[in-house]
Amino acid sequence: MGNKTPTRSPTHEDIELRRLASMGLELEEIAVDETVAIPALAELAEDRGRPPSHYLAAIPLATELAVAPSTGPVVRVCAGTCQRYGALDLLDHLVERHLRTQSFTITPVECLDRCDQAPAVVVEAAAGNLVLAPATPATLDEALDSLAT
Ligand code: FES
Repeated sequence: MGNKTPTRSPTHEDIELRRLASMGLELEEIAVDETVAIPALAELAEDRGRPPSHYLAAIPLATELAVAPSTGPVVRVCAGTCQRYGALDLLDHLVERHLRTQSFTITPVECLDRCDQAPAVVVEAAAGNLVLAPATPATLDEALDSLAT
């Protein structure tokens, strides 16, 4: 994990490691071929009364699993220390969008080496990579809208 952080103060708290570990075990139960589909993850999160972003963060931080791929761009979202700067809000936003469109893949990662510009996102599309750092739900929507065919 990178060691630089923004000069701004954190706005959010990290999910506790103990919770990440238990969510990781729950994810392993719903995984198929080491991947977790977003609808199944969202259903699990709803059953447990937790935001889907918490389960998405647990994927890189507490499991060897991956999110099941969809067609379209890959949206890599830092779920590491960027949590302190709103990364989980971005992930929740992406889950809502994904449940409607399924036209991109959400890939939570531990770090994107842009820790000083948290929360960091890299959108990987056929046309090239787009770095959003700091990303907001609005800039993410704009990027995905512009890539939608
Ligand atoms: S913690 Fe490094 S980019 Fe988020």
